Amino acid sequence: MNKRKYTSSILIALMVISIGTLVSCSNKGNEIFSNRKVSFNSNWSFHLNDSIVDKDTIGTNTKWRTLNVPHDWSIEGKFDEKSPAGYGGGALTGGLGWYKKTFKVAAVDSSKVTSITFDGVYRNSEVWINGHYLGKRPNGYIGFQYEISSYLNYGDKNNEIIVKVDNSKQPNSRWYSGSGIFRNVWIETTDKLHVAQWGTYITTPKVTAQTALVHVETTLKNQYGASKNALVTTIIYKDDKKVTSVTKNITIGSNADQTLKQDIQVETPILWTVEKPELYTAVTEIAVDDKIIDEYKTNFGIRDFKFDVDKGFILNGKQVKIKGVCMHHDLGPLGSAINTRAIERQLEILKEMGVNGIRTSHNPPAPELLDLCDKMGFIVMDEAFDMWKKSKNKYDYSNDWDKWHKKDLIDQLLRDRNHPSIFVWSIGNEIQEQWNEDGVTIAKELAAITREYDKTRPITAAMNPPVNMNIDEVTLQFEKNNVQFNKIAKSGVLDIIGYNYAHQTYKYHQKNFPGVPFIATETTSALETRGYYDAVSDSIKKWPVRWDLKFTGGNPGNTVSAYDQVQAPWGSTHEATWKVIKKYDFLSGMYIWTGFDYIGEPTPYEWPSISSYFGIVDLAGFPKDVYYMYQSEWTDKTVLHIFPHWNWKAGQNVDVWAYYNNADEVELFLNGKSLGTRSKKGEDLHVMWRVPYQAGTLKVVSRKNGKTVLEKEIKTAGNASNLKLTADRSTIKADGNDLSFVTVDIIDANDVLVPNANNEINFSLKGNGKIVGVCSGDPVSHESYKGSKHTALNGKCLVVVQSGDKAGRLELTAKANGLKQTTIVVTAE
Ligand code: GAL
Repeated sequence: MNKRKYTSSILIALMVISIGTLVSCSNKGNEIFSNRKVSFNSNWSFHLNDSIVDKDTIGTNTKWRTLNVPHDWSIEGKFDEKSPAGYGGGALTGGLGWYKKTFKVAAVDSSKVTSITFDGVYRNSEVWINGHYLGKRPNGYIGFQYEISSYLNYGDKNNEIIVKVDNSKQPNSRWYSGSGIFRNVWIETTDKLHVAQWGTYITTPKVTAQTALVHVETTLKNQYGASKNALVTTIIYKDDKKVTSVTKNITIGSNADQTLKQDIQVETPILWTVEKPELYTAVTEIAVDDKIIDEYKTNFGIRDFKFDVDKGFILNGKQVKIKGVCMHHDLGPLGSAINTRAIERQLEILKEMGVNGIRTSHNPPAPELLDLCDKMGFIVMDEAFDMWKKSKNKYDYSNDWDKWHKKDLIDQLLRDRNHPSIFVWSIGNEIQEQWNEDGVTIAKELAAITREYDKTRPITAAMNPPVNMNIDEVTLQFEKNNVQFNKIAKSGVLDIIGYNYAHQTYKYHQKNFPGVPFIATETTSALETRGYYDAVSDSIKKWPVRWDLKFTGGNPGNTVSAYDQVQAPWGSTHEATWKVIKKYDFLSGMYIWTGFDYIGEPTPYEWPSISSYFGIVDLAGFPKDVYYMYQSEWTDKTVLHIFPHWNWKAGQNVDVWAYYNNADEVELFLNGKSLGTRSKKGEDLHVMWRVPYQAGTLKVVSRKNGKTVLEKEIKTAGNASNLKLTADRSTIKADGNDLSFVTVDIIDANDVLVPNANNEINFSLKGNGKIVGVCSGDPVSHESYKGSKHTALNGKCLVVVQSGDKAGRLELTAKANGLKQTTIVVTAE
């Protein structure tokens, strides 16, 4: 039950906005794009109260608060050890929420078709328009649309839409889900003859350097009471320049759908690659009596790929190792309310590390993530489910399985299948039924549905593991002969065998599954707290030694050492799995658990931890050290990274690790004195020195052929004295949405980061904008991410500033006791 109260709730006067003038179609070229689909995110009224169980009992006295969606009410709550969502759900609360919005529609639109689209509502949404029930959608991660034309009032009369969101039954997720209308909402207004929802399907069946065959299937919907003759033209654009087009005359019967197939040849195609993700746009124009009545835009890419049994993943004829990460959908301090810039920032940080793949674990993502992956060049594994019929949590989606799985899967395929970044469909993650025949039956059904809607991509499932070679999880004895096969893996239903963990078995893959390609759907599950180190790296093994054992005698404050040495027992260190994947060509690649830390699923489940330790990047977006191991292996950038920090007790032994590349050797100096040269031997991915600590400067130099490549220094910090603010972008858009992510470093008088500073920092903002998130990346912090103060973790903190809809200066000030206050200006324009 949700006990939260909104003290500042306001009784909302009727909000009236006119969508009609915005939405109505025009024939003036591109203008129609912005009008066909408009945002319906602003000015919703929200009420959180479990006691309203029927929309008719919402009285005029109900207290409502005005907000814009995407909105996640759970992130506004308090962390609670007894939360029904459990630590897995991030110890935050669900509950029952109501949203409503009042609006007008121009009279001119009464002859059109109007629909409302929700990209995702977590969960169990029910929607009413002007008292008419539109429907229910239990799955929180899939988009859905209702046509509302016949229930609308046109002209001066108001319309009211009500959305009930029921996330009260807990637990229903193994990770933090968030609650509410957490993705975008749109109004779409079209002529009665139009391209249907998700109405295009574009494939590129033949691709060579000279020419590409682009196959376009367009589903048209005629809602007129008479048949219609129309001219349908598909125009292909590249960077706003017309490339080619095809036209066809068709007749569509009254109240009927019709799918039109067109083949288009694109000469000298510019191919989509991860390095240069080139996109094309197909514009479908429907003309009746020489008048264009609908225009519909689809982005697509031209690329050719396969998963090969010997060579792994081949993209446009070239072998590409998939260097991917798994991601949950939350955005750290912003919770699960999607924000395009916040997703883009995550992807930028990952790209910089060398990541070229994203697995949308374990559900369909926000459409904006896929758009960004198309534009930025990621190899996406789009995953449908975390469970089928058998539950993992009492109230999870297994309860909705029978009624909804078919529709949810079809809608995901229809929604997503034009994205050039998607290369694999995953029909499930660690499904409970995977070891028995029931699992095979369901897998066959899901694979058949998937193939019906898309034959261009292979199907996998994330199995734990596909082959179990009598694995003893504690001593990790994998090479015994007692092989047991996962039923789904051996059923022949999958195009690619998907391994969750079990990296020790990868080398036997071709023997165990002859003729079927390999993908590591999920790997590693190593654990680290950013910036925390046990001084001597091999003395750690404290917490968590065993994920299922209670926290006794472990590290203080549930910290996990950031040397890459602690892992969940089913996983490995970062280095161990990558060493195997990089070794064999037939291993197409891997998706590491996880790119970023996420809320929920602290491992082990140990209060006060409320967020995960698996991320290569912490919850605030600050890289942990192992980020640079990957960067040194996965990018062409020249890398030299040493750690830990240099503030220890005199005489104490401290292990210094270095990740480097593009050099033959590295030499370490302490206060000018050489501590020796090291170079990676064989499969090594780092080098190490054990150093008796002495305050001062630690310097490392990498060299190639005797010439210095890079130098790095770490200095002993003095007392904390200043706050340094750095904005990721100092100019943002004044659109009420854009974000500036400001890093706070606690520094000493000489600008050296104070590595153990955990000061509480207070933030204030002047100007037309607001602070929408604060976070240090600390998995045990229970301070609200939505407040205006936060305690730093190991010298760092993040504050997220959002623009308002007016241009101007946003002045962010940070203050902390005993430290000099600092201000930074972000310009919104
Ligand atoms: C996997 C699972 C993930 C996550 C991970 C933690 O088995 O698929 O969702 O729970 O373990 O190590």
